[in-house]
Amino acid sequence: MTRKPHVYGNWKLHNTLNASEELAEAIAEGTKNYAEKVNIGVAPVFTSLVNVRRILGEVSHIKLLGQNGYPKPNGAFTGEVSFSLLSDVGCDGVLVGHSERRHLFGETNKLVGEKVESALQTGLEVILCLGESLSEREEGRTWEVVEEQLESAMFHVPPVSREKLIIAYEPVWAIGTGKTATPQQAQEVHALIRGKIRESWLGDAADKVIILYGGSVNDKNAKDLFSQKDIDGALVGGASLKPESFISIIQAASESQQ
Ligand code: 13P
Repeated sequence: MTRKPHVYGNWKLHNTLNASEELAEAIAEGTKNYAEKVNIGVAPVFTSLVNVRRILGEVSHIKLLGQNGYPKPNGAFTGEVSFSLLSDVGCDGVLVGHSERRHLFGETNKLVGEKVESALQTGLEVILCLGESLSEREEGRTWEVVEEQLESAMFHVPPVSREKLIIAYEPVWAIGTGKTATPQQAQEVHALIRGKIRESWLGDAADKVIILYGGSVNDKNAKDLFSQKDIDGALVGGASLKPESFISIIQAASESQQ
């Protein structure tokens, strides 16, 4: 791995306030020694953000991330939380376009693009999630789908915000299924993503972009995934809810740097 690895945990819809606090405490404690080598982040449910921020401290080696946001600062949008409010409670970044948002809640590429723009304007780091479904892969349309997701979102990234953009390639068929992409399958798409960014941004900015893999990453498969040239870390779901597994994945990322 040539770029500084990033390992982010997406807690999805899990954990009460108490459970979130306990998990944050265990992760903060168990990852101190890796802070220099690995960028670490956690994305708790909205209702735990304030308390997790308090547990992590104002200046922490662990970034606090929202799982989603709405691209208007305020207004008559019942039930939504804006990116500026995430920033207000101390979030450093936010996931945008997660496949569960796209598939279960109907988020389109257009809406995801608006979210990317709004989140970047707020100054948050954006983890843009992309990935094909099983049927799209079986039809040989993986790159067609991922390229369109990428292109429509990148259009909303102004040059000044490029360094705040992280990509997470998460094939839908690998999420929560225990069926991870092989390191080669993931590397192939990561290289295409970096190539596409290189084409659009010109210069060497694409070499700096962090591209994470997500989809059933665990303490057993992380090392092999991290050995690939264009895989710069992981966005972890299930395994980020157990401190030992999450810390082992972070350790694997740190060792991939040596
Ligand atoms: P799992 O690691 O549980 O497959 O989830 C991946 C994911 O969706 C992270 O955003």
